[in-house]
Amino acid sequence: MKKFTCVEDIGDLRLAVAEAMVVKRDRFAFTELGKNRTLLMIFFNSSLRTRLSTQKAAMNLGMNVMVLDVNQGAWKLETERGVVMDGDKAEHLLEAIPVMASYCDVIGVRAFAQLNDRVEDYEERIIEQFIRYSGRPVFSMEAATRHPLQSFADLITIEEHKTKERPKVVMTWAPHPKALPQAVPNSFAEWMNATDYEFVITHPKGYELAHEFVGNAKVEYDQRKAFEGADFIYAKNWSAYAGADYGKVLSTDRDWTVDADKMALTNDAFFMHCLPVRRNMIVTDEVIESAKSLVIREAENREISAQVVLKRILENLK
Ligand code: CP
Repeated sequence: MKKFTCVEDIGDLRLAVAEAMVVKRDRFAFTELGKNRTLLMIFFNSSLRTRLSTQKAAMNLGMNVMVLDVNQGAWKLETERGVVMDGDKAEHLLEAIPVMASYCDVIGVRAFAQLNDRVEDYEERIIEQFIRYSGRPVFSMEAATRHPLQSFADLITIEEHKTKERPKVVMTWAPHPKALPQAVPNSFAEWMNATDYEFVITHPKGYELAHEFVGNAKVEYDQRKAFEGADFIYAKNWSAYAGADYGKVLSTDRDWTVDADKMALTNDAFFMHCLPVRRNMIVTDEVIESAKSLVIREAENREISAQVVLKRILENLK
């Protein structure tokens, strides 16, 4: 594997999940693979799970790990080519990338959407520059449009808990006070569409995701109807994608909060969320604390998804 930014990069999902199970059975079986190899993780945005799980995965593989928080202690980085750098940004990404690449073998990048300019965000300008100019394998630790390590962990979690071959998986929008990117829902939709699950997306009007991510999923605007018979409820907030509303919060309607009343409409569904989650906005205390909540299992599987991706990258370096 030379890069990991989307579902296509992982190839056959059944093989990927099978490999995840091998890694999970013995996460220290491949400790020689990363010997004398260095992972550099670069964060343009905050993280708890991605930072710790990816570092742990790399350590399980015997790698050395360096972490750079761009906004804490590094020079402020300019990301646009052609600008006159007379502001507060002291260094350009075009120099910083090859310099950082010279110190490592593999690069992970977290760079969220800015939510100002849809074209700019959906061109993935930051991670694409790392892929183009680093000369190193690059993987996404959540970029502007996708969060594939999260989606892979979510898929592993569903495969571990499903009780039928083709479960009904419902991704529901839920309210949040701040504007959040579409990366997690885009990515989850992309991965679910690559399975043969029944996949439904429900959200208020105005929150339609890009067609390339919705794919063949059924879109149901009535949340309660969408929940009927569901085996998995995947909750997430996202800001508007469409036109002039791009990046805006159109509603914080708590009628969309996932609660026990709505979960009762499902087929005793599991509840999922990538975390961090705003309790009693996205989901009630009762639901997230219930026996059917998989939020901690998903987070645990972040170590596994990261380890499969790093393992494949390291195997390709040999
Ligand atoms: N789910 C997830 O990526 O969590 P962090 O933002 O804490 O890394």
